[in-house]
Amino acid sequence: MQKITSRDELAERYDLLSLYAKEIPNISMKELRDNAINFIIAGRDTTAILLTWTCYELCMNPEVQDRVFEEVMSVCSKEDGELLTYEKVQQLKYLEAVLLESLRLHPSVPTLIRFALEDIECPHGEIIRKGDGVIIFCYGLSRMPKLWKDPLQFNPSRFYNQEKGYEPSYYPYFNILPRLCLGKHVALMEAKIAIAKILMKYQLQLKKGQTFNPVFSATLQLEKGMDIFFIPRK
Ligand code: HEM
Repeated sequence: MQKITSRDELAERYDLLSLYAKEIPNISMKELRDNAINFIIAGRDTTAILLTWTCYELCMNPEVQDRVFEEVMSVCSKEDGELLTYEKVQQLKYLEAVLLESLRLHPSVPTLIRFALEDIECPHGEIIRKGDGVIIFCYGLSRMPKLWKDPLQFNPSRFYNQEKGYEPSYYPYFNILPRLCLGKHVALMEAKIAIAKILMKYQLQLKKGQTFNPVFSATLQLEKGMDIFFIPRK
């Protein structure tokens, strides 16, 4: 890994961090370092968990897996070397819906924790006192029939070609504005590229006989991981 010690060195570079630094001329090297760590911590496990559970849902719903494969092949042909450009990734709308639905059922960040800066009166009259901690159990929200029809059903159509978008407060899996996850679009793009590249070459199949016990920590971990077969396409 190359060590960067001054801003001048960044001017010649075009990686994510250098581009970010160029956008904020006054950012110090320390702030830049802190942001780099933030990107790694906030962006690595979260995206990996999204990919794992999306592969799981694609195995459990083979018709969805086929449909994603068809969509990917409709934008990327063998003639162009199955090249995935930024524009093509934007066209993968069904795959995006699959990712959003997978994240709804298996949120990478299963809880949000906040501390009240002042007393807050809730709509039903409960008072949250200044200093109290509040845990929002996002994993539970996605399982509430009051918020989602047939909540346990994996149904990407919830997010596909919908005239009326979903209610943002029901979907805090990238947090909610104004503190939306800074990496939301990067994460969805990364995940779309990864799943598209995998499905171009392989069919996914879950190894039988596994049990998946979620472990709730800052991110949604699996007690024993997940084994999936990648079967080469003919
Ligand atoms: C599927 C992938 C991801 C998910 C589900 C996700 C989810 C979240 C959630 C729920 C929060 C709010 C956490 C809290 O306040 O307790 C958050 C914040 C944040 N995320 Fe992500 N994230 C993902 C990927 C990324 C990536 C790839 C990056 C960076 C490249 C990133 C950068 C950040 C940053 C910097 C914050 C703090 C924003 C703020 O509070 O102002 N995330 N993310």
